[in-house]
This record gives sequence, structure tokens and C-alpha cells, in this order.
Amino acid sequence: GKYRVVSTKSMPGTRWIKLLVDQDCRLEICTEKKTILSVEDIISLIGNKCDGVIGQLTEDWGEKLFSALSRAGGTAFSNMAVGYNNVDVDAANKYGVAVGNTPGVLTETTAELAASLSLAAARRIVEADEFMRGGLYDGWLPHLFVGNLLKGQTVGVIGAGRIGSAYARMMVEGFKMNLIYFDLYQSTRLEKFVTAYGQFLKANGEQPVKWRRASSMDEVLREADVISLHPVLDKTTYHLVNKERLGKMKKEAILINCSRGPVIDEAALVDHLRQNPMFRVGLDVFEEEPYMKPGLAEMKNAIVVPHIASASKWTREGMATLAALNVLGKIKNYPIWADPNRVDPFLNENSTPPP
Ligand code: GLV
Ligand code: GLV
Repeated sequence: GKYRVVSTKSMPGTRWIKLLVDQDCRLEICTEKKTILSVEDIISLIGNKCDGVIGQLTEDWGEKLFSALSRAGGTAFSNMAVGYNNVDVDAANKYGVAVGNTPGVLTETTAELAASLSLAAARRIVEADEFMRGGLYDGWLPHLFVGNLLKGQTVGVIGAGRIGSAYARMMVEGFKMNLIYFDLYQSTRLEKFVTAYGQFLKANGEQPVKWRRASSMDEVLREADVISLHPVLDKTTYHLVNKERLGKMKKEAILINCSRGPVIDEAALVDHLRQNPMFRVGLDVFEEEPYMKPGLAEMKNAIVVPHIASASKWTREGMATLAALNVLGKIKNYPIWADPNRVDPFLNENSTPPP
């Protein structure tokens, strides 16, 4: 291979490997056992000759790594993730390294996890499972694990991009929920979908679903029964859900987060869960992964899973493939991928993901 490409982790599937190897790349996959690599670990992986790196969201891609990559002759980096809050894009620009991410292929998989958590919270599935396994079930009772019916309730979506919109469509169409969403941008496609679905219901003699684009986030917090967070994490969305905003939600609301942990003030959330036993939460992400804030693990009204929203076989293989294509495209100067220093380089929600 003419080019040296490093992947900081083994990734699912083989297509991404074949892509690189077939295109003159010598691929090195890190076999280090520890889960989170340090900056120093990665600098030594980069070594003194490296054309591109496929990295992970657990790694801190800043000044140190981009300067090391640049010194090794590298010009390409791809995160194996759609989110890239772990990447300092300005630093990458400064050292002439193009940055890619993996949007598109994880939209539905991530939305499906948000929907799973919504249902699990609404119907108290995890608590009920523990109860059953604990040998506590001694017969059917009218009051046993009564949860809420989603049909006719309102789903609130904060951040109606690719994933937020897919989630909204699932909850509206799947469960006939009304929709209120907040986003700085209007989601015309989502609005058209919900309108058309409402007309379909009406034509069938059913109550049409109602929907509205809120003019503030607080409107969503006040009105929605299930609220799912889908913003990008940046300075403006850090602790977007804080003590004050938690206080605006219904006492029996369900809050879902499959975006990034720091979007919620997790310590304030633990207090809120303690004080409001009917408030429920489904979390895929945490403020300081892999840790949870003290008390969270003891809360029965919280469902917690370890950052698995994009974890379907199809999606993880697609992410690996896109990450490889990002790096390869830059190294080989393919026109559509070679646009340097841009994230979200070539896929949008209309694109067909690779098989
Ligand atoms: C996963 O969290 C991702 O951003 O792809
Ligand atoms: C419940 O199991 C019912 O039959 O209503």
C-alpha cells in the first residue's frame, strides 16, 4: 500500500477494510485493549508516516492530534459518528486536515432507539422486567405497572434535523401522537408528512393528529408528554435542559436523550427524578461517559443504556464504510469527497446509504 491509514478501533463489517486495501492503502487497526485511547496513545499510533485516521467519538481530536497527523503527512480524518463535538474542526483546518463524519446511515437506527426508550419509559418495561425476575409477581392486578397511553398524547421534539424528524415521524405515525417541535430551522418535510398523515386519518374517520412548530423551547417543555432531545452539542446547547427547564415540564413527562450527555445538566436531572417520582427519563448518553452522576443508577424512574443508539449491524457497517470513504476520498482526491475541511461532506438525508 502506498498510503498508511490508521483506524483507532476495530469496526464492524469488512467492506470498509476492502475499500481501503483495494485502493492502495496499508491499513493498521489498533488492537489496544483499553476502551478509551488517550491523546498519547493515538500520537504513537500515528507515528511518523500516516495519511489518514479513522477515529472514535471517545477520542479528543484537538490541536495535539491534528498537528501530529499533519507532521506525519496526514490530510484526512473521519470520526466514526455523526456527532463531532470531540473534534476541534478549527484545529484541523489550521493543520490542513479534512474532517468527515458519518451522517445518514444512522438516522433511523438512532430514532428507533429513542422510540424504544420512549415506549419502555411509558410502559415501565425495565421496572416490570426487574419485578418479574425478582419473583415478585403474584398475580394480575388492576394497578400493576400502569403507565401511559401514547396515542393522543403529545410528543415534543427538540432539534428536528435528520434524527429528530425521523423520530417524530415514528411517534406520530406509529402511535398517533400529536407533535410539537422546536428547531431554529423549519422542517418542511416533517410538516408535510404530519399534515398528509392527518388527512389520511381524517379520511378514515379518525381524529387527525395535531402538530405545531413551537416558537420557543419552553413551549415544548410545557406542553409535551414525551420530549426527545436531538440537538447538536455545542456551546449553545450545553446544559440546554437545566433545573429551571426541568421545572417547566409536566410532573409526569417522559424525557429522552439520544444526542449527547452534556445537553442535560445530569446532576439537576437526578434531583428532579428524586423529587418527581412520576417523571421518567430514558438516557442513552451521559454527561461524563462512561460515568453516571451519583444517584442516577438508583432511580427507578430512569432507564439507562450505554450509548447504543446507532448500534444496529447495518448502521455500524455503514458508518465504518462512510468513515473509510471519507478518508479515502481525501487521500485520493476524489472530487466529491475531497472538499477539504468540511464535515457532513457528501451525504444528506436524500442520499442512499451504501449497502
Ligand atoms: C454517535 O453518538 C454518533 O454521533 O454517531
Ligand atoms: C388483561 O389482561 C385483560 O384481559 O384485560
